[in-house]
Amino acid sequence: MSVSSPKIELQDLTLDYSHDGGESMPVLSSFNLTVQQGEFICIVGPSGCGKSTLLNMACGFLKPTSGTVLIDGEPVVGPDPRRIFIFQNNAVFPWLTVDQNIGFGLLDRPDAERERTVAHYVDMVGLTGFERAYPRELSGGMVQRVEIARALAANPDVLFMDEPLGALDFLTRMKMRADLVDIWRQEKKTVLFVTHDVEEAVQLADRVVVLSPRPAEIRTILDVQLPRPRNLDSPEYLRLRDEIFKTMGLDFSSPS
Ligand SMILES: Nc1ncnc2c1ncn2[C@@H]1O[C@H](COP(=O)(O)OP(=O)(O)OP(=O)(O)O)[C@@H](O)[C@H]1O
Ligand SMILES: [Mg+2]
Repeated sequence: MSVSSPKIELQDLTLDYSHDGGESMPVLSSFNLTVQQGEFICIVGPSGCGKSTLLNMACGFLKPTSGTVLIDGEPVVGPDPRRIFIFQNNAVFPWLTVDQNIGFGLLDRPDAERERTVAHYVDMVGLTGFERAYPRELSGGMVQRVEIARALAANPDVLFMDEPLGALDFLTRMKMRADLVDIWRQEKKTVLFVTHDVEEAVQLADRVVVLSPRPAEIRTILDVQLPRPRNLDSPEYLRLRDEIFKTMGLDFSSPS
């Protein structure tokens, strides 16, 4: 019998930013969340509530004012190559080709192994035929796929994603969401994914964490037990989506 084990533990995290006037502004106070190995967690909440701050602390870019982040039971004290962060505005190298970008984190590997790994991820994100292209020759969605492939090729334990699809047009975004579901089903990484988009969260996540306005507190955590790939017209999908909207103070279900 396999018992799930905690991968990420956010314990009593508090963060105050101090602004120029010297006054401190609480962004998080006593925030607690435990993420299991292999779980896909989406975090939604209003703009400015503290989602990016939370993610930055979880991956070790930002030190909490108090509290602890544990990954595999070990305190996180800084960034680590076993954990990869994907930003909204992608960070691919414009002077490297698609396959050089994807292989960037693998330069210490033997050539044959690196080439095999790069080919695998090029194929997985559907960029076969574009291996020698530079980012400027690709569409925005393709560049974002390079970014995701590069992150996966480095074989991280944990993926932190801060609105990775936010800059994409609607059609590309829908396609990328479906791709992400496929990739996650194959790879089973632990994922902490921030999004504004409630529909995206219900399509992707095992659990959706809904935050309050700043200072961010957990309003609710919803389990999404629908099988993947999810039917975006199913009554249960729509019910969960509407429940999150309601929790966020938006109720579209009863026109008056
Ligand atoms: N480096 C910083 N110094 C001071 N204040 C900051 C800093 N970064 C963020 N803040 C403030 O902390 C609050 C939370 O910001 P954060 O970026 O975490 O929000 P968010 O939930 O990610 O918002 P969005 O959905 O718009 O991306 C905001 O009020 C913001 O002004
Ligand atoms: Mg943000």
